[in-house]
Amino acid sequence: MAKMLQHESIAMFMECGEINNMKLDKKMADALNAQFNKEIVSASIYASMAADFFGKNLPGFGMWFQKQAKEELAHAEKIHRYVDEKGERVFYDAIPKPQDSWSKIIEALQAAKKHEEYITASIYGLVETARELKDYGTESFLKWFVDEQVEEESSVQNIIDQLEMVGDSNMGIFQIDRALMQRK
Ligand SMILES: [Fe+2]
Ligand SMILES: [Fe+2]
Repeated sequence: MAKMLQHESIAMFMECGEINNMKLDKKMADALNAQFNKEIVSASIYASMAADFFGKNLPGFGMWFQKQAKEELAHAEKIHRYVDEKGERVFYDAIPKPQDSWSKIIEALQAAKKHEEYITASIYGLVETARELKDYGTESFLKWFVDEQVEEESSVQNIIDQLEMVGDSNMGIFQIDRALMQRK
């Protein structure tokens, strides 16, 4: 019996060693932490766009960006949980003040598209770091973000396309605004 226990404790010790090997590399942990903060910054930018649209009596655009801001916070939360599962913790950076208003609707949407492209490049950078480090667990975790970025870029581009189609037509803008209210 005593022998069994000794055997078990050696097995447990070895398991612990394996767990330690799976810890996040500092470079990976730092990159995930930076991404965590970028998601919060994204939320702040989109919440500011929402405020601008609500203020300009465009509730559909406002609601769409408000939901987008919530999604960005959910992305941050996802990274927070993953880092936590790996036995690390996240650290909060200061949030830069977002722009308050955009002179044209399409300018806000173009800025959102540009921001999403920047986030996509940032996620790709994380995937590259995970590959370099042979951290396949983190690479697999990041796959969800890679797919999500494709969807986010395309949904913003869709709104840009619609705005370009209607140009300065108030009726067209009104209809887009109504349609954006339907976002789940
Ligand atoms: Fe995001
Ligand atoms: Fe996003």
